[in-house]
Parts: sequence; structure tokens; C-alpha cells
Amino acid sequence: MSGFEYVADELCCDSVSISEIAAKVKTPFYLYSYDTLKKNYQSYVDAFQTVDLLVCYACKANSNLSILRTLGNMGSGMDVLSYGELFKALKAGISPAKIVFNGNGKTRTEMEYALQSGVFAFNVDSQNELFLLNEVAGATNTVARIALRVNPDINPLTHPYVATGLAKSKFGIPIHEAKDVYQTAASLENINVVGIHSHIGSQLSKVEIYLETLKKIMALVDELHNIRIHLEFINLGGGIGIPYQDGEYMPHPKDLSKIISPLIGDYRLILEPGRSIVGPAGVLVTDVLYIKYTHKKNFIVVDAGMNDLIRPSIYGAYHQAVLTTKHIYPEEMLYDIVGPICEEGDFIARDRSMPRVKQGDLLVIKDAGAYGFSMSSNYNSRTRLPEVMVVNGKDYIIRERETYEDMICRESIPESLW
Ligand code: LLP
Repeated sequence: MSGFEYVADELCCDSVSISEIAAKVKTPFYLYSYDTLKKNYQSYVDAFQTVDLLVCYACKANSNLSILRTLGNMGSGMDVLSYGELFKALKAGISPAKIVFNGNGKTRTEMEYALQSGVFAFNVDSQNELFLLNEVAGATNTVARIALRVNPDINPLTHPYVATGLAKSKFGIPIHEAKDVYQTAASLENINVVGIHSHIGSQLSKVEIYLETLKKIMALVDELHNIRIHLEFINLGGGIGIPYQDGEYMPHPKDLSKIISPLIGDYRLILEPGRSIVGPAGVLVTDVLYIKYTHKKNFIVVDAGMNDLIRPSIYGAYHQAVLTTKHIYPEEMLYDIVGPICEEGDFIARDRSMPRVKQGDLLVIKDAGAYGFSMSSNYNSRTRLPEVMVVNGKDYIIRERETYEDMICRESIPESLW
């Protein structure tokens, strides 16, 4: 049995008991299902059989080397947006010929590193970035393959913090200005214009939005064709949402393929999914430290905090919380699940109806594989969590828990302060 399912009354990850892993690793920790990760990647490959697809997994969602390696083994490329992400993708053995470099604030150093590594393409976010890239490529005797990131001015109907395709967004070149910027790009000596890119937002629930975007992009691609700018690929970014709540509908890659594949023609299609590949493949396992009843609320105080999983605090995001041992007490109660951090915004769930929970229970916070560990921090001087992956029935630590010495190893106290 793969994924996160109860076997008898015990919640398992790919058939391995989560409580048993917790007894060895100690809570809190992130736990990943290798089978789910692979299945989610494969669902893109299966869905887009009729087009030439390159999946560039968005490693901002989760850049653990073992996750990157698993996807790389399956043929995935990567979307990276920083020096560190490129460094990690290369360390995981991803071919640079499958790496796209994203971001609206690339530095000269990042450009040099990416050019020297031979990345597949840069998604260029502005005209000034284009000029700098041309200069850096010239100075390093390389040619930069580029796509322009265009902003199609489309409302992706998602949380405002992750809506990137609206005209007011900081990302991309307004689509009506893009033709001129393409012409400029084509005239630059060290730039090779090869594609077009757009990423309109994250946690998207409607594939029609991609269609609307693609139609605008294809109109531009035709215009470019007329002025003899011929592209190799169309990159539609990432963004397919996942159901965080029971009964929530989210599109499958097949739904996306059905609607966009007929328009792609002979162009190569690039997609940059992150969340839909790794989100459901990971959970956060946390221990119930205390139960606290006040006259207003019932609190479950757990040992994971907003520094470990920040999504509920900053987006009001919903994550299911379940017990590792099924329903010992059938009676439902209303709880807030809160962490140990010194902020009122430190919560994992609010007003959540759950079977009665007691001190020492283990809670599993679901769908935490994407933007979980990767957004975690040392806030409150807490060490970052270990990550575990179950691979073919065996659990492996794929990142050790940070030590307190790790936490201070870059700090120093000037002599005069002693
Ligand atoms: N491509 C680009 C250019 C992106 O900026 C992103 C995500 C992706 C692809 C992948 O999108 P996905 O398939 O994962 O939706 N921290 C937020 C999500 C931020 C998304 C940032 N960009 C969260 O926890 O919901």
C-alpha cells in the first residue's frame, strides 16, 4: 500500500508505521512517500503523451537532494531560481540541459554560474535583466538561451500572495510590450531567443486559466513568427493546485493536457510543477505536548511550530491533521492546534473538529511536502527538522536534524565584547 493510509488502526507511509519511525527519529520531522512522489511525477508524463513535454520540477517547493534525485531518475528537469537551487540540482545529478533558471532578481554571480553550468534556458523577467545577461554572457564567452517571462494579465483566482499573472504583479513583461522586447533580444549578440514563459500563479483550481493564458501566448508566438523570431518551446510554468481539504476539487494533469495539448502543435512544452508533485507526498509528524482547555478554546499544543511549517500562519492555509492511531475516542471536539513559538500567529489549524486528542498522541499534518521544509527557519532558535523518506518499505533519513552547534557555527563574538 503506498501513500499515507491506515493499516488496521495505524497510519503508515508506504506501509511503514509512522509511530515506529517517530520512535526512532523523534518528533517533529518531515516524512515523504517515495511512491507518491513518483506517482505524481508520472501522472504528468502519462497525461502529455501526445506532446513533447519536459517537466522542470520547481525545486523551491522542496529541494531535498533525495527528492531531486528521485525525480531526476525519472527524467525530470528542474526549475531553479537561485544560486543555491542550481547548486543543489547539480549536486543531485540533474543534467544542466534540463534546467531552467527563473526569477525576477537574478544577480550577475547567478548568471555567471548558470551560464558556466550550461543551463537549458533563462526565463528573463525584464529588459534590463536581458541587457545584463547579454553582457555577462559576452564576458564569459557564452551564449544565453532565453525565454521571456510574459505577464498575460489574467486573474488566476488564488491567494493574492501567489497570484503572479495579474498586470500589477512584479513578475514578467506585460504581454503587449513583449514583442518589442523580443526584437531587442534577437538583436543582442550573446542572446539566443528560444522560448516563451509564463507562470500565472500557484494552487490554481481551474485549467481554463491556462487555456486563456496559452491563447494569448500563441497569438504572440504567431506575431513573432511573422517577424522571423522562431521559438522552440512554450513554458507554461507550474501552479496546478492540490486538494488540502476533503472533497475539494483540483485539476489533474490529464485535465490540463486535454485543454492545452491540442494548441501546442510541434512546440516543445515545458511545465514547472512543484506543489502537485511533492505536496501530497509529504507530511509533518508532530507530538502532542499538552492539551489546554480555556473557557474560550481547546488547544492542542504540539512540538512543531510556525518556523517548521509557516503556511497556515502566512496564507491562512488549511492542512488536515490526523492522529497516527485511529479514533481512540470517537467523540469529536473543536480544537486549535498551536505550536510552541512566542507568537499568536503560530498555529497549524484553527477551530478544527477532531476526535478527542490526548497528551502524547502523534499528529500527522498532511500535504506538507511542498513549501513545508523549504520555507522553514530557525526562528526562536529552533533547529531545523530532519527529513525522512520511505523507499521501497524502508525509512531513510534524508536530512539529519540540525544540531545546536550547526545553528551557531557561522556566528562569532568580537574579542572586545568579552
Ligand atoms: N514556476 C515558477 C516561476 C514559480 O514561481 C513557481 C512557484 C512554480 C513554477 C511552482 O508552482 P507550483 O506548481 O508549486 O504551484 N509558498 C507558497 C507557494 C509559492 C509559489 C511560488 N512560485 C505556498 O506555500 O503556497
